[in-house]
Amino acid sequence: MTSSDAPARYAVFGNPIAHSKSPEIHQAFARQTQQNIEYSKKLVEPEAFSSVTDAFFAEGGMGLNITVPFKQEAFNYAKVLTPRARAAGAVNTLAKQEDGTIIGDNTDGVGLVSDMLHRLQWTLKDKTVLIIGAGGAVRGVLLPLLHTEPASLTIVNRTSAKAKALAEHFVDYGEITACDFNSLQGSSFDIVINGTSASLSGELPPIPISTFTPETCVYDMVYDIGLTPFLQFAKDQGVTATHLADGFGMLVGQAAESFYLWRGVKPDIAPIIEQLKK
Ligand code: ATR
Repeated sequence: MTSSDAPARYAVFGNPIAHSKSPEIHQAFARQTQQNIEYSKKLVEPEAFSSVTDAFFAEGGMGLNITVPFKQEAFNYAKVLTPRARAAGAVNTLAKQEDGTIIGDNTDGVGLVSDMLHRLQWTLKDKTVLIIGAGGAVRGVLLPLLHTEPASLTIVNRTSAKAKALAEHFVDYGEITACDFNSLQGSSFDIVINGTSASLSGELPPIPISTFTPETCVYDMVYDIGLTPFLQFAKDQGVTATHLADGFGMLVGQAAESFYLWRGVKPDIAPIIEQLKK
């Protein structure tokens, strides 16, 4: 590559988008891996997703991250889907392939799993895992979680029918069951993941205190400057402070997997998380 080469163009599309940290994350990846890219964020109007995406790729764009509320539209837009995108029913990454077709991927689940396994050094294999929530965010991570071969994966949700439907959908991929909050009384888990949006509004899912032991590893897919309400609750129940993690690592982790799909090199997320948290 010569310095006169134009950078390859990437962007994140969403609505709202002002808060997105994706440009900083991808620019940090590009510096770390010496890739010549440009990455911007774009506010897309609800009806304009498909036309704005067409235009981006027609004008030479190489890849997109897709965030709320367009992940399902991106799923419908992609001409080709990866198995994990098909399982998630949603796409957070679009990439232009060599033949010009657009492939849709979903890197949220693998971003979460790689944050837990590699950065946090948690073990998932043969462990009991509880995931709270049954919306799009949870559906997006179930396949990669099951691929880690936990002893069991239990989904609990306020609307229990949604948890049941998700467990049935993924039953062929591993040990997965659904339950309601009441039937959790008295059970504890090795790993507890909050995949609800409750932390965003300062709320807590009605999780019994028996769920946690001091050794439980607790992950909130939402992130905050301090502890999220869910992580604070777990800490108050006696969970070891070093066993608490928020979703910032997942955010950087999913971005790293998108970057890998686009550029063929995988950034090291730990130093980037440290740098961006400052
Ligand atoms: P996302 O794309 O973030 O998953 P979603 O599809 O709207 O958003 O799903 C939000 C999830 O958070 C759901 O599982 C929701 O529970 P319901 O299915 O019962 O609505 C859950 N949720 C949101 N606020 C909650 C709260 N205060 N307590 C418990 N669960 C909550």
